[in-house]
Amino acid sequence: MASEAPANPLLKPYKLGKFNLSHRVVLAPMTRQRSYNNVPQPHAILYYTQRTTKGGLLITETTGVSDTAQGYDYTPGIWTKEHVEAWKPIVNSVHDEGGIFFCQIGHVGRVSNSGFQPNGQAPISCTDKGLAPHIKSNGIDVAQYTPPRKLRADEIPRIVNDFRLAARNAIEAGFDGVEIHGAHGYLVDQFLKDQVNDRTDEYGGSLENRCRFPLEVVKAVADEIGAERLGIRLLPFADNVECWDSNPKELALYIVKSLNKYNILYCHMVEPRMKTHWEKVECLHSLDPMRKAFNGSFIIAGGFDREDGNNAVAEDSADLVAYGRWFLANPDLLKRFELDAPLNKYHRETFYTSDPIVGYTDYPFLEVSS
Ligand SMILES: Cc1cc2nc3c(=O)[nH]c(=O)nc-3n(C[C@H](O)[C@H](O)[C@H](O)COP(=O)(O)O)c2cc1C
Repeated sequence: MASEAPANPLLKPYKLGKFNLSHRVVLAPMTRQRSYNNVPQPHAILYYTQRTTKGGLLITETTGVSDTAQGYDYTPGIWTKEHVEAWKPIVNSVHDEGGIFFCQIGHVGRVSNSGFQPNGQAPISCTDKGLAPHIKSNGIDVAQYTPPRKLRADEIPRIVNDFRLAARNAIEAGFDGVEIHGAHGYLVDQFLKDQVNDRTDEYGGSLENRCRFPLEVVKAVADEIGAERLGIRLLPFADNVECWDSNPKELALYIVKSLNKYNILYCHMVEPRMKTHWEKVECLHSLDPMRKAFNGSFIIAGGFDREDGNNAVAEDSADLVAYGRWFLANPDLLKRFELDAPLNKYHRETFYTSDPIVGYTDYPFLEVSS
């Protein structure tokens, strides 16, 4: 039972628009690469349900908006009827346990290769600048990227429409809302950042132009499903997959202020201290100016433990705190935070393996639930 002890502000309830959250601990979006043939699998029912609490917010792994959106093996989609039907039992199970479930919809853009693309075509992006090969997270394999094809301006409405349809599908699957993936160097982030976006048309150059595609996506999705069901994830300060900006603070402030026009439910920002998905560095930047400038709810993520999550809420740096790796390894994270109990260690080597159980649903609970 959640207490309101000042020592544990993460356990205080919060009203996220129309959703009554019973605490502030959010499941961060995490790709798990266990959706064979891009179809969510029955084993995801257990994975998400294990991490559900009554009145807790969960965000899915990145879910592709179209057949050009993929860049990793076994990641789920939400562009076909089959995907929608496959998500339904997962969403229903989370709802049965009282969870609030948002679907993170995304498109990798140039972080892909022709092997993932329909008819072996080149990936699409705002640019035709390619990516150097990168060492994969297992530290052994090398990810190879095919140089992207720069989208023509007249093609961009079709990609915006893919996001709109994916959001509609997510609602049809039963999700409470969607989060647009605007972080980690993927398509939306590629448009935002001046070191990738080299366009000279109305989608490149000035801040206004670089934000045009992301805001068109926001508007299209908000018009489709309602702004009160829409969040966006942003990571202005990092340089994931060679995607960085020369003035991230200015970009971040500009985009959050622009988002205010659309009255979306939340903005979810990853801490500037997160150099990559997982690497935490000392950093002078703070998200406070963006938190203050944004009118909706503010979620932060990136390197939080119980103590600094509590501090972030106590200091009003955020309304909610999203946990990635600790939640991956501790399905009963909330309970452990309540009791200040020790946490299971996470096993990086099984983050992205395709096994339906190992490293997925076999992390132990604190105690056998009755
Ligand atoms: C296995 C794994 C997969 C991830 N996949 C995604 C993803 O699909 N979408 C996303 O926005 N972030 C993704 N992230 C980033 C997390 O949401 C989070 O921002 C990051 O892990 C830092 O938070 P933490 O320190 O609490 O783990 C992933 C992280 C991990 C560890």
